[in-house]
Amino acid sequence: MQQIDDLLKKFPRVNLSILPTPLQYLPKLSEVLEHNIYIKRDDLTGFSFGGNKTRKLDFLMAEAIVRGYTAIIGIGANQSNFCRILANAAVRYNLKVHLILRGKKVSRPTGNLRIDHLLGANVHHVNTTDSQVALTAAQQLQQQLEASGERVFLLPPGGSVPIGALGYVAGWSEIYDDLQRLTHQVGVVMHASSSAGTQAGLVLGQAISGWNGHIIGVSVDEPKMRLIDNVKNLALAAAKLLNIEPALPPVEVEDGFIGPGYGIPTAECRAAVELFAKTEGIYLDYVYTGKAAAALIAYCRTGKIAAADSILFLHTGGYVQLFE
Ligand SMILES: Cc1ncc(COP(=O)(O)O)c(C=O)c1O
Repeated sequence: MQQIDDLLKKFPRVNLSILPTPLQYLPKLSEVLEHNIYIKRDDLTGFSFGGNKTRKLDFLMAEAIVRGYTAIIGIGANQSNFCRILANAAVRYNLKVHLILRGKKVSRPTGNLRIDHLLGANVHHVNTTDSQVALTAAQQLQQQLEASGERVFLLPPGGSVPIGALGYVAGWSEIYDDLQRLTHQVGVVMHASSSAGTQAGLVLGQAISGWNGHIIGVSVDEPKMRLIDNVKNLALAAAKLLNIEPALPPVEVEDGFIGPGYGIPTAECRAAVELFAKTEGIYLDYVYTGKAAAALIAYCRTGKIAAADSILFLHTGGYVQLFE
């Protein structure tokens, strides 16, 4: 969408992501769910096994280079997709990388953690589920590194700062153009949502483009009202960077598919992962996209989405976790 692309022109950007990603019709899944279902393949953004984080890092790494940072600190769970891609991006641009991972040190790293080790990232485990404890550990490390002369870029979980959210303003521009070309009119976009950066970028893009469908973020951890606030605040902060004051559409979050907690698969999530693999040969994960797909399936089956409304599922990546 030209208007969005023009607004983003002044921001430096590296091109980790291979863009545009494909947008595909899913014939077998559409038949099973009796709705027309499309998928935006952001699992195929390419760099470091792909996923939504490469779009954010296209802007964040450019920012790191422009500001002359020499080291980056990322925060996440042991199986963080963001930390895996961040570590790879840091190595690519010759920055030192430290990861503060919420989880126990393991003797045989698997999945994303295995890639962190392969890349030689400095991995620090804080055995806690409390994100504040992890943030404090990251801030202490930042001070130590700065005392030894490093210029340190400390990123919050998911890289969800306003500059990072611009990645999904750009992502929406691409999706908006895709939607104009489809046979069936899409009324609903669904995706996994957690640290708010992806949804904030999409919602801001939606506001700029004036699209009047629904973007539904399926929470994998946060309660609905908190995630709505986080998305709104981040979208408004990103709008400030763009020097615009758009009227945001109502932010829509579904939090009924988290189950017992972050990273704990539910029966519906397992069934969704299996259904996508067996019908379309598309791999989801048990932490993010499996739960978002579980919501999509339930919305179709219970009539929460009318049969006349076509749906776009935004695949945000994450399947490295299947090898945990
Ligand atoms: C595979 C995957 N999907 C979705 C998300 C959620 O994106 P965000 O944190 O921008 O809300 C993440 C975040 O870690 C992820 O790794």
